[in-house]
Amino acid sequence: MQSSVGCIEVLHQPGLATSILKPHPPSEMFRAATLIAFTLLAVVGAQQVGTNTAETHPSLSVQECTAPGSCTTQQRSIVLDANWRWLHTTTGYDNCYTGNTWDTSLCPDGATCAQNCALDGADYSGTYGITTSGNALTLKFITESQQKNIGSRVYLLESESSYQIFNLKNKEFTFDIDMSNLPCGLNGALYFSQMPKDGGMAQFSTNKAGAKYGTGYCDSQCPHDIKFINGEANSDGWEPSPNDSNAGKGTYGSCCAEMDIWEANSMAAAYTPHPCTASQRCEGTECGDGDNRYGGICDKDGCDFNSFRMGDQTFLGPGMTVDTKSKFTVVTQFVTSDNTTSGTLSEIRRLYVQNGQVIQNSKVNIPGIDASVDSITDDFCSTQKTVFGDTNSFQAKGGLAAMGDAFEAGMVLVMSVWDDHEANMLWLDSNYPLDKDASEPGVARGTCSTDSGKPTDVESSAASASVVFSNIKTGPIGSTFA
Ligand SMILES: *[C@@H]1O[C@H](CO)[C@@H](O)[C@H](O)[C@H]1NC(C)=O
Ligand SMILES: *[C@@H]1O[C@H](CO)[C@@H](O)[C@H](O)[C@H]1NC(C)=O
Repeated sequence: MQSSVGCIEVLHQPGLATSILKPHPPSEMFRAATLIAFTLLAVVGAQQVGTNTAETHPSLSVQECTAPGSCTTQQRSIVLDANWRWLHTTTGYDNCYTGNTWDTSLCPDGATCAQNCALDGADYSGTYGITTSGNALTLKFITESQQKNIGSRVYLLESESSYQIFNLKNKEFTFDIDMSNLPCGLNGALYFSQMPKDGGMAQFSTNKAGAKYGTGYCDSQCPHDIKFINGEANSDGWEPSPNDSNAGKGTYGSCCAEMDIWEANSMAAAYTPHPCTASQRCEGTECGDGDNRYGGICDKDGCDFNSFRMGDQTFLGPGMTVDTKSKFTVVTQFVTSDNTTSGTLSEIRRLYVQNGQVIQNSKVNIPGIDASVDSITDDFCSTQKTVFGDTNSFQAKGGLAAMGDAFEAGMVLVMSVWDDHEANMLWLDSNYPLDKDASEPGVARGTCSTDSGKPTDVESSAASASVVFSNIKTGPIGSTFA
């Protein structure tokens, strides 16, 4: 059998959100898609599994700590999301999906499509530019092989067929980040989504692929670009994106709570909880699409802490207090009301460590918000929304308590690199929304130009960009860094 799977695709906007704060954003997000053009032999196969390329998960070690310097190494691995994979017939190698459209004879409806089509294994480094070494994961933005791949999204696996499940209440999560090669317009994201541990196989028997093939993705944007949801293709009502040749949107969205630990590039960074009132496939108003942004089941805006946006414009960036020209450590602490794992999530704190120095998070410097604040609490979120004139969907969807409930239910670790076909990442690193004056509180989020971040530009000018996530540790508060 020959082999040559190509995939183009497009990344997806994992946690976009943070702050699409337009009063009525015109539409949701576009998400990934995978293009493949090929013909091969060999086989297999509802959302079935293909065997052209063996699925070999790159290994990644992580650590569980009990006290500073007292950590146990765990051998884990990562898996590529299903949306990026070649999707072909179970009986051969005709594409079920090409560019941003489904083959209507193989996929006349979602259930039939899931029977006819198989997800194949991934050539992680060759096709997708995904490599690991020890405790480090590198994601390249663009990878040119037989086809061009754009961005990627991977999950941490506990075993070959299950995601590692995290509950960070009364704990902290720590990792090292190198964003020195990640310019304006890109997003190297590390976050948690409330995905099913097995990718949804047990609940939906037509999903034969499961976590081993990266199924079951969901997030707080209720993305419609997910190709399979609940064991069925999302081909019904599919509309190819007008400006993204690899993505489209189906009738259904895939909603669940999301905790963005890190959405960033070398110019800006944010951490953002996004609670939801349910974790499910959505249809219609519950997806919170278009003018109904605040009427769905998830908090799409989230409650973000971006140091620049919160008034400290010299805290994080090249040559700044947290210098993005080199690697640093990001610590995120999930404090509960009674300092126990069963308490209510009450505060999310942030620290950095660089060159051996512990750096406290920047303090808020915005008229109308207490200048001692340097973390996310429900009070901070309510005040920030009021001062910035934003809708408080965060509180409406349950605030920090609901975010804590999502951890109690179990969250999956996601790492990705992506560009933004919806808003050019301006919500993270520039001024946003553009129809407001940049001097109004909350509009300026970073120093990137308002012209930056167009996918057509960054996909050529930043083709060699990459991000490195490493040294992942979890443990009780204060245990993961010295
Ligand atoms: C929880 O721990 C913090 C920090 O050690 C302390 O300030 C606070 O009083 C504790 N809260 C409770 C309810 O014990
Ligand atoms: C892509 O098209 C969508 C829907 O028409 C629109 O909302 C979005 O702003 C466009 N994005 C870019 C970068 O042109």
